[in-house]
Amino acid sequence: MTQADSSSATGFPTIDYDANGYDYQQYWEGRGYELWAEDRALRRLVPRLGAYRWFVDLGGAYGRNAGYYLPQAERAVILDYSATNLTNAARRHPEAVESGRLGLVRCDLNAIPFADLAFDSAMVVRVLHHLPDVDHALGEMGRIVRAAWLVDVPIKHHLLGLVRGAATGRLRQIWSAEPLITGATDEKYFNFQLDAVRERLTGLGFQTRLGASANNFRRWESRVPEQVARYARPLVQGMEAATQGLGKGWLGPSQFVLATRPAAPLSPFTDETAAFTDRMACPECRSALIFSDDSAGCSGCSRSFPKTGPFWDFV
Ligand SMILES: C[S@@+](CC[C@H](N)C(=O)[O-])C[C@H]1O[C@@H](n2cnc3c(N)ncnc32)[C@H](O)[C@@H]1O
Repeated sequence: MTQADSSSATGFPTIDYDANGYDYQQYWEGRGYELWAEDRALRRLVPRLGAYRWFVDLGGAYGRNAGYYLPQAERAVILDYSATNLTNAARRHPEAVESGRLGLVRCDLNAIPFADLAFDSAMVVRVLHHLPDVDHALGEMGRIVRAAWLVDVPIKHHLLGLVRGAATGRLRQIWSAEPLITGATDEKYFNFQLDAVRERLTGLGFQTRLGASANNFRRWESRVPEQVARYARPLVQGMEAATQGLGKGWLGPSQFVLATRPAAPLSPFTDETAAFTDRMACPECRSALIFSDDSAGCSGCSRSFPKTGPFWDFV
C-alpha cells in the first residue's frame, strides 16, 4: 500500500490499500496475539455502546470486526477507501450483503456520503493512524454518529514510545499535543496524544471514557522463536488480560475510547428497516441522492457515483 497523494475529492492524502496488489487480509497471518488481544477488548466494549439498530464500521475494510455488531444491527454499513477490502467484505459476508443488512460504501472518511446522525453507533479500529488531519476526520465521522462510538486511538506516549523518546532525546515531541509522524513519505503513520483526541471528541459533543489498553505487548511473537512463543503464549495472554484495564491511558499503543453523547438526540429517521441508501447524502453538497440500479445521482450538484460490484463508489 502507499499514500495516494490527494487522490480523494477531499484533497486529504489517503492511504491506498489497493496499491501494489496489497490484500489486508494477509496482514493478519501469524498475528494470533494481536487478534486475541483485540477480540478480548472488543467483546467487552462493543456491548457498552448500548442499544443500537444502525451501526457503521468506519474504515471497516473486509469486515474483520463485523461479528461484533452484525448480530444486533438492523442495518450495518462498512465505509472504506479500499475497493479490494470491500470486495473481500462481500465475499466474507455474502448473506448480509445480499439481503441489504450490510451495506458497503467506498469513500474517504473525510467526506462521508451519509446524512447527519444516520447511525446510532459506530466503531473506528486501526484507522486513525492513517488520517493526516484527524481533527477534520473525527468531525466528519462524529457527524453521522447519533449516540455512541468506539474510537481506537494510536497513541505516541505509550510505555515503549516513552522509552524510545527518552533514548533518542525526543521526549518533548512525545508529550506534545501534535501528532507524531513516522514512516516513509508515501506511507505515513500518525500517532496521537490521547488527551488531544479526547478534547476533540469533547468539542464534538461526546463524553469520553477509556475502555481498554490493547496490544500491550505487540510484536512479541515475532521476536522469539516459535518454540518459545508456544509456551509463553498463555503467560503473555494473561498479562494482556490483566493490563487491558490497568494500562488504560499509558501502557499500550492502542487505547480504546468510548465516546457517547450525554443526551443523544432522537434519530431524525423514522423507518428503521429502510434501505441503508435512504440515509445517504451527497458527500460534496449533502443534497439527496437519487439511486438507480447502477448509479447514485446528486439532486443538488448533479454529480454521479457508480455502483461497482458489491459497493457504492464515492471515490
Ligand atoms: C489497518 S486497516 C483496519 C481495518 C479494520 N478497521 C480492522 O480493524 O481490521 C485500515 C483501513 O482503513 C481504511 N482507510 C484508511 N484511511 C481511510 C480514509 N481516509 N477513508 C476511508 N478509509 C480509510 C483503509 O482502506 C483500511 O481498510
